Amino acid sequence: MLTMTLENVLTEIENQVLTITINRPEKLNALNAKTIEELHEALIDAENDKEIRAIIITGSGAKSFVAGADIAEFANYGVEQGKLLSATGHFKLFNFIENYSKPVIAAVNGFALGGGLELAMASHIRVASDNAKMGLPETSLGVIPGYGGTQRLAQLVGKGKAFEMITTADMINAQDAYKWGLVNYVVTQEELLNKCKEIAAKIASRSPISVKTAIKVINAGYNNKYNGYDVEIEEFGKMFGTHDFKEGVKAFLEKRKPVFNGN
Ligand code: COA
Repeated sequence: MLTMTLENVLTEIENQVLTITINRPEKLNALNAKTIEELHEALIDAENDKEIRAIIITGSGAKSFVAGADIAEFANYGVEQGKLLSATGHFKLFNFIENYSKPVIAAVNGFALGGGLELAMASHIRVASDNAKMGLPETSLGVIPGYGGTQRLAQLVGKGKAFEMITTADMINAQDAYKWGLVNYVVTQEELLNKCKEIAAKIASRSPISVKTAIKVINAGYNNKYNGYDVEIEEFGKMFGTHDFKEGVKAFLEKRKPVFNGN
């Protein structure tokens, strides 16, 4: 995959890690339909590129990660359009990221509101800069979170805090987000991308097929169509048929670093 420039999204590959920057700083990186489509395209390209082992998503500028879905775009929608807006977002971006085969790390560099926090929560790992502000303000606009926020916030911070954040529409700061388990780390804005790259580099040294399978099995536990333990047994067994398993164990016994190929 070559570095490509889309209109609202910038991409850069370094050391097997793709950094995607949402680039509408004048609108605080609000997610309109075009931006969601471009993020989807960038992620599809990266999925097919074996050289890319992890993704970092961040926002352009020092102020905002993503300040939500683009309010101007949906201002005149009716019921069916509202439903389609939510369903398309789930399909193209939010569920798509949660079930992505490579880890997605959200580098939350400022406001993560509404769809912005939902994007961070759909990602597998979240790191925030100390100026970040997070919230689901939809009830202040007469709607509710529609990109998975009602479900994922409760999974991450528990039902009680989720009820409070969604019904009050209040923002919380990075330290509270850390205390509540909403983000894994809080660092300065200068350190933010480096911290994410450090995590991504570690992931890139592990077996790609193990990482992909681990994402699938962890997610199975949050999907009521599956029994997570049953999926784990099945997938654990399958790992024994992979090249990476044979290589990983052989390398351990030979006291050397494994050379994984994802098969
Ligand atoms: N959708 C569309 N445009 C947005 C936006 C969004 N979610 N969030 C910010 N913007 C735009 C503003 O309209 C403004 O555009 P303009 O300069 O053309 O008027 C620009 O981004 C800068 O935002 P502004 O409100 O002037 O910045 P601020 O520092 O005063 O306030 C926020 C920052 C984040 C508190 C405020 O922008 C805000 O509340 N945004 C909406 C958050 C929200 O409700 N998100 C959930 C949507 S479902």
